[in-house]
Amino acid sequence: MTDKAIANSLEELIGNTPIIRLSRFCQSENLKHTIFGKCEFLNPGGSVKDRIAFHMVRKAEETGRLKPGGTIIEATAGNTGIGLAQVAAVRGYKLITVMSEKVSKDKVNFLRALGAETVVLPGGKPISDPDNFMNRARKMAEDTGAWLANQFYNETNAEAHYQSTGPEVWTQTGGEVDALVAGVGTGGTLSGTGRYLKEQKPEVQVVLADPIGSSLADLVQGKESKSGSYLVEGIGQDFIPGNFDISLIDDVVRVADKDAVAMSKKVLATEGLFLGSSSGCIIAAAVEYSRRLSGENKNIVAILPDGGRGYLSTMYNEEWLSLKLGPTQ
Ligand SMILES: Cc1ncc(COP(=O)(O)O)c(C=O)c1O
Repeated sequence: MTDKAIANSLEELIGNTPIIRLSRFCQSENLKHTIFGKCEFLNPGGSVKDRIAFHMVRKAEETGRLKPGGTIIEATAGNTGIGLAQVAAVRGYKLITVMSEKVSKDKVNFLRALGAETVVLPGGKPISDPDNFMNRARKMAEDTGAWLANQFYNETNAEAHYQSTGPEVWTQTGGEVDALVAGVGTGGTLSGTGRYLKEQKPEVQVVLADPIGSSLADLVQGKESKSGSYLVEGIGQDFIPGNFDISLIDDVVRVADKDAVAMSKKVLATEGLFLGSSSGCIIAAAVEYSRRLSGENKNIVAILPDGGRGYLSTMYNEEWLSLKLGPTQ
């Protein structure tokens, strides 16, 4: 069959995710502007990270850094690992993922089911500590000669978003986008998408959604910062990753865990979208940004990095949540 409607591999199913207008949600929040969600949870592996997993591997193959049958190592909050596990299956690699124990059991189990080796390290280690999960992943790659995908510094991460997420948002909104709200784990999504959108229309505002406890908001604003702990997974850092171009940032919104969780639940109740914790944080930031914005009828695009299934044992488990946050309702 040569039907153009039929994909020839999983790779062709990545990206081109829909954008949804969150009308009921915006109405319930009494907003003067409209928030749109870019549904990255609809990628085959369930997150935005599918985009970079395939792109980074393709580029490493092209430059000869990754050899046929080789081993990929990556430090991940889970989703990049899941994306890489898919590529490893399709292209015949072995995958070792290195994570902090903060990563939900759901995502760790998912990775194991996909055939990845998982190394889970004690959480809360700062980037200056050799036992931080990123440092350990780099050391493992150095010791074994495996290829470190290195999403925090590998520029093909942001490039994937510059080539796909950015143009999609631009085309899907017909250029009528006024602001982009995203979180930063590696910075790839925000930098690649933000750069593309600003090149098309310099007035597009790029807004960083940062969990309270992360240092990024302070670092972007040139302030001293002390990082703390927070529950939201996948975004926030105690350093500026190589893929985070802070010159793109026009505004910053800090979000408390309880507000990220509350927003996830509100979007579920009003729109039926079952989202992960970083999506909750990003939507909470989009709401706050909308309240700060003058005028009306501006279009705010919020990236929704992943869905709720990876968090059934955490933010969607009331027992876990009340243990961590105290009662939320
Ligand atoms: C759930 C989740 N949301 C958001 C992000 C942030 O994306 P980026 O690394 O492109 O900044 C990540 C990255 O790990 C993630 O796992």
